[in-house]
Amino acid sequence: MDLECCSYYLQLPLLTCCLFLLYSIFNVFAAARSCGSGDDQLAPRSYPVVGCLVDFYRNRRRLLGWYTALLAASPSQTIVVDRLGARRTVVTANPANVEHVLKGNFGNYPKGKPFTEVLGDLLGGGIFNVDGEMWYRQRKMVSHEFSARVLRETDSGRGDVVGVDLEGSRGARVLHAALCETMRLYPPVAWDSKHAAEDDVLPDGTRVGRGDRVTYFPYGMGRMESIWGPDAGEFRPRRWLALPRDGVSPFKYPVFQGGPRTCLGKEMAFVQMKFVASAVLRRFERRPVAEGSPVFVPLLTAHMAGGLKVTVTRRRHRQQNGTCER
Ligand code: HEM
Repeated sequence: MDLECCSYYLQLPLLTCCLFLLYSIFNVFAAARSCGSGDDQLAPRSYPVVGCLVDFYRNRRRLLGWYTALLAASPSQTIVVDRLGARRTVVTANPANVEHVLKGNFGNYPKGKPFTEVLGDLLGGGIFNVDGEMWYRQRKMVSHEFSARVLRETDSGRGDVVGVDLEGSRGARVLHAALCETMRLYPPVAWDSKHAAEDDVLPDGTRVGRGDRVTYFPYGMGRMESIWGPDAGEFRPRRWLALPRDGVSPFKYPVFQGGPRTCLGKEMAFVQMKFVASAVLRRFERRPVAEGSPVFVPLLTAHMAGGLKVTVTRRRHRQQNGTCER
């Protein structure tokens, strides 16, 4: 064996040891970051430089499910998604945090330029897409259009058309409960983000830096056992009938957001949904064409991938004399 060859055989174990050592240090560091050093809720696996890019990429087609699982496992129902090339994002399903962002420290959490600039061409300077003084003035101006009186008039007009009482009756309360339950599991706005104007600390201790994105997550919140109990994943409209009259806190169920920027069309949306449900469901039976669950797509507002194809048949009407006709 010549000298060169001998030194090669000596170097190989040394190199292996070095690599192993480096790998161990890397893992310890990564584990420390994913388990939370200081921030308890750093749940996605995070590595130096790239952050949680690898996990994010792996889960990019199932972000709703991934975030929901991470949030459920996080002690404070908050996670920090920090990956190379993207803004640091705090995702929370913690009602105290949601209340803080949407109400308590509302002024520090505008939609922010990253949102309003992207949607500027589509929404212009309308109420959906402005912050600060411009938003406040528009909100004051349009609030009247959504006043209780205007809505009552619309409601009674529509109720007359379909021949049902859209408020008050037991049927109407059950329908209301079914709609709330549907939107609990499939909220039309699955997630919604604000951008911090200044550094802040959320009620659960999560640090927020100036410019960070803070996302409250109605989809995940609808599935948190910490909010809804062990049957959180089940469709059970009855849970709404058992609630007190003023319902559930908008910070536990932020489907229509909460605080000063609460959806102005909430009542109108319920009137429309009840109108459609009464007009269509009473007369027609629908059966999904495909088996299995449709895929929920959370874009600006949610929809079902490829739509929901159904077979429609006219229901038999019960006549006054008790016989039925097609
Ligand atoms: C089920 C149906 C609906 C849902 C789930 C919903 C949900 C929401 C949410 C989450 C926001 C907050 C968006 C944000 O600030 O980032 C919002 C805002 C708003 N919604 Fe709705 N919405 C619904 C229907 C409607 C309807 C039918 C109207 C009007 C007739 C309406 C009018 C508004 C307005 C004007 C705002 C802006 C409020 C503000 O920025 O001060 N919404 N909605």
